[in-house]
Amino acid sequence: MSHASQEPSGLTLVHGAAELVVGPDEGTAVVVLEDAAFAALDGEVVAVGPTDEVLDEYPVADAETVIDATGKTVLPGFVDPHTHALFAGDRSDEFAAKLRGATYEEILADGGGILRTVDAVREASDEELAANLTGHLDAMLAHGTTTVEVKTGYGLDTETELRMLSAIDAAGSDHPVDVIPTFMGAHAVPRGMDAEAYTESVVSDQLPAVAEQGVAEFCDVFCERGVFTAEQSRRILEAGRDHGLTPKIHADEFAAIGGTDVAAAVGAASADHLLHTDDEGRDVLVEAGVTPVMLPGTAFGLGADYADARAFLDAGHEVALATDFNPNCFARSMSFVATLASVGMRMTPHEAIRGVTSAAAGALDLDDGTGTLRAGSPADAVVLDVPTASHLSYRFDTNPVSTVLKSGVVACE
Ligand code: NIG
Ligand code: FE
Repeated sequence: MSHASQEPSGLTLVHGAAELVVGPDEGTAVVVLEDAAFAALDGEVVAVGPTDEVLDEYPVADAETVIDATGKTVLPGFVDPHTHALFAGDRSDEFAAKLRGATYEEILADGGGILRTVDAVREASDEELAANLTGHLDAMLAHGTTTVEVKTGYGLDTETELRMLSAIDAAGSDHPVDVIPTFMGAHAVPRGMDAEAYTESVVSDQLPAVAEQGVAEFCDVFCERGVFTAEQSRRILEAGRDHGLTPKIHADEFAAIGGTDVAAAVGAASADHLLHTDDEGRDVLVEAGVTPVMLPGTAFGLGADYADARAFLDAGHEVALATDFNPNCFARSMSFVATLASVGMRMTPHEAIRGVTSAAAGALDLDDGTGTLRAGSPADAVVLDVPTASHLSYRFDTNPVSTVLKSGVVACE
């Protein structure tokens, strides 16, 4: 597949789709139209409906870009709201160690895991960092992702955290995928420091510099047993908020130590992982309007139990899905995540589609229609070479994506 980075222009038509997913609906997970089309003008959807009606109003002859989606399925472009996609080095040996019984937490406590990636990132040049991310963005785009969040957190000092943000900014501004940067200086405690002293330096040194640089939109913390306590996480997220960064949190991945309460208290956009969240934690999140983000690739890769998505869904709440792409979870495909969500967490294929589109956009506070194909939405869409939308999670062999549109322009085919 090749990708192009172009400015949106003119009329784009996608027509004849066997199924077209418009967006979320009360009651049903998503609205699905049959024999459907959409028209977009200058990067924005202007009409969605039955193919004959859309083509009556917007004739093929007037269009700059025309995609015949006969027999195929059209979905909103995938939104991946949780990744650590900027890194250097290789940790495949840890994968083998985990297969022999080592745990993620043991490896991190021994100075491996995140801390090894920190060593590799500190050694990498700015160009290498941006090029690494660009390569991963290419793969994500080829799998249908049109918006992605990327975290820092492999610098753990002011200089390298700022370099990571610059690399995210550089790679993102030169790529069709929209990249949303998150500052995560509190991803691990650097060697030779204790969590309390490091928390203080994140608050007093890193955050003011990150705010001055002006790239990051969110602030995230790894609130976890042996990493940052709930109290430290809260301090960091409140300080981030004071600097204009919207809070997010890694909560309940290995143990429930109060991350959901912190998420509610600071008004986080999302709480992510939630492998050990109980009913009380769930209610706290729901009441506070925090979007739950589930990362089934992480559970799959670690051989851990999956998060309880059904508890949220059966109570009428949304669940967003993300890859969590990082050296511990080498997954860039949201369609594979949809499969894992269905098989591992019993999400219906339509719930999984909502999870990788509009619910994921909610986890990033995007309220411009991203993750939907309605009049006024950005014309970000994925054409899948499958007869119904349910095939997104049903199939898990090859990439089902045949064309990706970003802002109405073919970005990948
Ligand atoms: O979300 N759990 C913390 N952070 C990442 C893992 C990062 C890494 O191991 O490099 C996660 O899974
Ligand atoms: Fe993460």
